[in-house]
Amino acid sequence: MQSLLRENRLFPPPADFAAKAHIQNLEQYESMYRKSVEEPEEFWAEAASELDWFEKWTTVLEGEMGSAKWFVGGKLNLSHNCVDRHALSNARDKVALLWEGEPGEVRKITYGELHVMVQQFANVLKGLGVGKGDRVAIYMGMCPELAIALLSCARIGAIHNVIFGGFASHALVDRINDSQCVAVLTQDVSYRRGGEVKLKAIVDEALGKCPTVKNVVVYQRSTVEGSPERKTPVSMVEGRDIWWHEAVATASAECPPEWMDSEDPLYILYTSGTTGKPKGLVHTTGGYSVGTYLTSKYIFDLQKDDVYFCTADIGWVTGHSYVVYGPLQNGTTVLMYEGAPNWPDCDRFWRIVDTHKVSVFYTAPTAIRAFIKWGDAYLAPYTLDSLRLLGTVGEPINPEAWMWYHTNIGKERCPIVDTWWQTETGAILIAPIPGAVGTKPGSATRPFFGIVPEVVTKEGEPVPKGQGGLLVIRKPWPSIARSIYGDPDRYKSAYFSEIPGSYFTGDGARQDEDGYFWLMGRVDDVINVSGHRLGSAEIESALVAHPKVAEAAVVGRPDEMKGQAIAAFVSLEEGHEASDALKQELRQWVAKEIGALARPDDLRFTPTLPKTRSGKIMRRLLRELATTGTVTGDTTTLEDFGVIAKLREGDE
Ligand code: WTA
Repeated sequence: MQSLLRENRLFPPPADFAAKAHIQNLEQYESMYRKSVEEPEEFWAEAASELDWFEKWTTVLEGEMGSAKWFVGGKLNLSHNCVDRHALSNARDKVALLWEGEPGEVRKITYGELHVMVQQFANVLKGLGVGKGDRVAIYMGMCPELAIALLSCARIGAIHNVIFGGFASHALVDRINDSQCVAVLTQDVSYRRGGEVKLKAIVDEALGKCPTVKNVVVYQRSTVEGSPERKTPVSMVEGRDIWWHEAVATASAECPPEWMDSEDPLYILYTSGTTGKPKGLVHTTGGYSVGTYLTSKYIFDLQKDDVYFCTADIGWVTGHSYVVYGPLQNGTTVLMYEGAPNWPDCDRFWRIVDTHKVSVFYTAPTAIRAFIKWGDAYLAPYTLDSLRLLGTVGEPINPEAWMWYHTNIGKERCPIVDTWWQTETGAILIAPIPGAVGTKPGSATRPFFGIVPEVVTKEGEPVPKGQGGLLVIRKPWPSIARSIYGDPDRYKSAYFSEIPGSYFTGDGARQDEDGYFWLMGRVDDVINVSGHRLGSAEIESALVAHPKVAEAAVVGRPDEMKGQAIAAFVSLEEGHEASDALKQELRQWVAKEIGALARPDDLRFTPTLPKTRSGKIMRRLLRELATTGTVTGDTTTLEDFGVIAKLREGDE
């Protein structure tokens, strides 16, 4: 963090970039920003008018922070704005999805073709009895059919619940049952690092415990032309499971979009919070559409000829907003890649960039740190001269990684947009407008239109510039999640009660003298591993579910590559011995319960956990211990002073 505090380099927008950009200078950004906060209704009405509405709204904004409604009374359909609008214009033959499979297959799907495919699949869903308001789980890999699955749900008003393909079957069960999904969309296999991820088999394992699911549609990924000949047999349950390709073959290609109310739910996406149970954030149609549309247009400065590559998986919010909905509403050519960045070799992304002439590239700091580690030799064969804009998301970027990205990928020519936002916010809230706002390595810079962030104390008092505090957002914005599925009280208490009247982000930040925001990581028990959000409590409950574990505490510690790593402290039930074998068994257990991304990096056994007199685990101490190997500071409320000494002894 020290280097962040010293960072004062400023990179002005390159003149030739600015000359062609939607927003070309600071004055223009500032006057639009002023309008957006002084006259938000006019500003957002103008933005919304760039999309198609079946019926116009009557009121732009109704209600307060925490209960605000946007574009009230308006009717629209997001799949229409992503697909039909372009398919029915002269962009019909423009490529919408440009896909590369990990084994190397390439598919190009135009807006016109996407229009047909989405309507056919929407009719397949209808044929299964899926209708407006029904929840549909999607557990797929990165392939065009995944985007088609989202768009088809949106078309008929079914609420999609995408579950990241890296989650294990237990996590699938929880998420399907919490939202009572009626159908699951999956595929036979996906390819990653040369291996197969057997998605359908994992679904089968889960569904025994999911009574609400009536049907499963299985996309046959392994038969794409040019795929390796290694078809994994998939078991199909009679009366429940159908093949995607068989169903669409007989489906009509005409499915008019459902007229959705602005405030009708669009999707549920689960994310980690501070308790053991993941939160199903509910996003609605109108505000989310406008928010993802406008941020994509201005922050990625999308232009007619762009080939846009966001490396995020659609299983996370970044994939929802910035692989599918934002760029497609802008009529962009979206590049989707199925596999790992280092398969078959560490130059895969750069090969993709040169081959497909990618112009906008959006990835996570953790990936950039991996590129640095792999070495610049992997870049040597590539010109990367199609690139014009770079982006980052998911975690704070260290200035060293930013500079490497700027120099080696951007060739000192491409602006970098460091985009700060969250699953809850739906769209980017803080990021530079690339033709207008100069960048500083490590800062997400200034707020997007309509966003009023502030750094405050625990009591909600503004802190002076230069000092750290909690990041809150003072005014409502269109794309904020409207609820936590099935738990509106938790929605209120998690986000709007900490600092009354404001949205509480859970992030620490400071603002510098130029008004730039510097994000400093979570202030709660959320751990950010390689840009993936995990809850301490979630991993703890997985650990205590193991028969030999009595208690567990999990904290994040800084990690050079992953941003944060997971450190677990475990006490065993009477009669069990700590051993290396058990350590491995428990790490593996967590991977099986939640997914490989949650596997603890360190695991230490301890006879008891340090607690306050009121019985709360002292995570601050454990965090310090996991980070530095020792503990200083105030431990007067420790129930048992000896615990820390014992934990130290347990060190490797
Ligand atoms: C972190 C991902 C610093 C932050 C879009 C936030 C960031 C959490 C940035 C949300 C950034 C995301 N700089 N930190 N540019 N972007 N974060 O919900 O801690 O998966 O609260 O959404 O990621 O993670 P989520």
